[in-house]
Amino acid sequence: MASVEFLLNGVLKRCDVAPDTSALNLLRDTLGYTGTKEGCASGDCGACTVALRDASAPDAAFTSVNACITPAHQLQNKLLVTVEGLETPEGLHPAQETMIECHASQCGFCTPGIVMSLFTLYQGNAFKAPFSHQVLEEALGGNLCRCTGYRPIRDAALQMQTMRWQPPVWLSAINPIEHSTPPSECEEEASFFKSPASLEALLDLRAHHKSARLVAGATDLWLESTQQLRSLDQLIDVTRVDELRRIEAAEYQSIPGWWIGAAVTYTELETLFERHFPAFAHLLSRLGSRQIRNRGTLGGNVANASPIGDTPPVLLALGAWLEIVGPNGARRLPLESFFVDYKKTDLQSDEVISRIFIPSLTEHAALRVWKLSKRREDDISAVLGAFHYVIDGGFLSQVRLGFGGMDAVPKRALHAEAALEGQPVTQAGFQAAQRALTEDFAPMSDVRGSSHYRQQAASNLLERLYLTLTAPTQEVMIHAYAH
Ligand code: FES
Ligand code: FES
Repeated sequence: MASVEFLLNGVLKRCDVAPDTSALNLLRDTLGYTGTKEGCASGDCGACTVALRDASAPDAAFTSVNACITPAHQLQNKLLVTVEGLETPEGLHPAQETMIECHASQCGFCTPGIVMSLFTLYQGNAFKAPFSHQVLEEALGGNLCRCTGYRPIRDAALQMQTMRWQPPVWLSAINPIEHSTPPSECEEEASFFKSPASLEALLDLRAHHKSARLVAGATDLWLESTQQLRSLDQLIDVTRVDELRRIEAAEYQSIPGWWIGAAVTYTELETLFERHFPAFAHLLSRLGSRQIRNRGTLGGNVANASPIGDTPPVLLALGAWLEIVGPNGARRLPLESFFVDYKKTDLQSDEVISRIFIPSLTEHAALRVWKLSKRREDDISAVLGAFHYVIDGGFLSQVRLGFGGMDAVPKRALHAEAALEGQPVTQAGFQAAQRALTEDFAPMSDVRGSSHYRQQAASNLLERLYLTLTAPTQEVMIHAYAH
């Protein structure tokens, strides 16, 4: 057990918690704050949504997070707002008020989570501009409701923005936490949650605790605790390491691009991607939910090496490099050399991924990314295809095709690439690439798709690319949904 100190709805809490205690269990089981609900315990339903910001930064935006997969120790020095904190002497928060007025709650199990997502939206956007449907869908994409139907909830959100709220004093106060004990450190070697604040300290811990698990957003790791009931008793948190949290424009091997720190979250990448990689930005909007994007990191997605991770196929198509640091200094390798086998990587037990280099797109280069999943928001890919190419004088070059869901690891389709490289954009050329895909992949069957489906779907994505290039006015995907 080690101590964590944070503000809960403005009140200082100091609690002893085990390394693998979730923020949700701390709230409900230890502190008796049962307004925050547990539905799936895996970051999928949003019933446990709470709002977080640094306790000493009143101007910082609140982020919505899933308390069920947030380590309690990562509440250190944070202001945590739960649904119990929104009522003031003047009344309910507009999100609560309008949820009632619009009849947007029936069994009510999802309601606290929806209110907290709306609260975060309200705090970040109130009175700046009317919410578009897109903004609302984006804010609520991680909150499932099984009985009310989403229209009343959307109506409540639209109505909320017209209402003023007088926040309690604690919400906008600067509240540095005075530590009575050293924060979040457990000295017992058998069990600890350590949060180093520098790369040097992180490497030192890594060298001395080789079987400890690294944790950043915990969006996948924590499922080992909540779904597989495994103990996570030695954890090293990388989210306080400044060197892992930077985005820097730079040149690597004379190619301009960006070094992205491994602990940079998806949300923090949005502005860069919208500007320089719109297709990647669009993919991010479909990666998990807002709560997941606020926590999940690029480095975590890469290190996880899941065959269905969303970002690795895109990074492969873009020709990304990894920087890995260990006791002997830094080494760099192309991402495709990193994935060894199913969930196996080239990372050694005393190393960490520090940064990922993403080259910028050259003048004639393009990137297309298509994710196929059963649900538009908050779902896992069955197949994901990322396509990088240059078209100059009608000929294709620098073709790099990254696929997820097609093999034990995220992988380039080298045979299909070879079929297209240097060729004019013709149907025959693309058909040859589609045939070559069967040499690249022999996908497995699972709950998300059969082997045959995956092979056919990947082939169809190449056809979609051909249509995109030769018939640009033809619609190849759904852009708008009925409201
Ligand atoms: Fe479902 Fe946390 S309980 S997201
Ligand atoms: Fe019942 Fe939403 S009101 S799940």
